[in-house]
Amino acid sequence: TAPVQADWPALLRDVADFPRPGILFKDITPLLADAHGFAAAIATLAAPWRAAPPHAVVGIESRGFILGAALAQALGVGFVPVRKPGKLPGPTLALDYALEYGSDRLEMHVDALPAGAPVLLVDDVLATGGTLQAAVALLQQQGAHVVAASVLIELSALSARQRWDAQVPLLAGLVI
Ligand code: PRP
Ligand code: MG
Repeated sequence: TAPVQADWPALLRDVADFPRPGILFKDITPLLADAHGFAAAIATLAAPWRAAPPHAVVGIESRGFILGAALAQALGVGFVPVRKPGKLPGPTLALDYALEYGSDRLEMHVDALPAGAPVLLVDDVLATGGTLQAAVALLQQQGAHVVAASVLIELSALSARQRWDAQVPLLAGLVI
């Protein structure tokens, strides 16, 4: 197994007041653009699963696709997308969830996974946790077994871990 190289977190970029005033945005694009940094970040996410990979990696649109697809390849397993509304062509299962203001919806193909398949759910950032919790619930509705939800970056100030459903382990490559 590849050693986890040290300093990929240094390649994250803070952008003040994006997407709204008062929000400090964690931009992963400089990390993605750096071949060694990107590989090190994926190695960090892959490390716990090398010995016993899941059936598939599930990634959440959009940024979860970038990390999830690379992670699936690193683990030698397939990738399944959880998408924003109206994007998937086949029959879907959907889940609506509340945001701070308004609501959003995630969808997946009903036949994307065999019943009971162990899957690893991936996204880039855990902020309020609303997106990741909704994706866990959608996968469970579908009959998948979510072995863990893994994010590259956990924003601890938003306390999502305190509200997390303890039945699915929550892993983070970096807690800030
Ligand atoms: C961002 C981020 C996570 C989610 C985290 O996605 O990529 O998916 O928000 O926030 P939460 O923990 O409060 O739910 P976003 O919907 O902004 O868009 P993108 O991934 O398509 O860029
Ligand atoms: Mg996202």
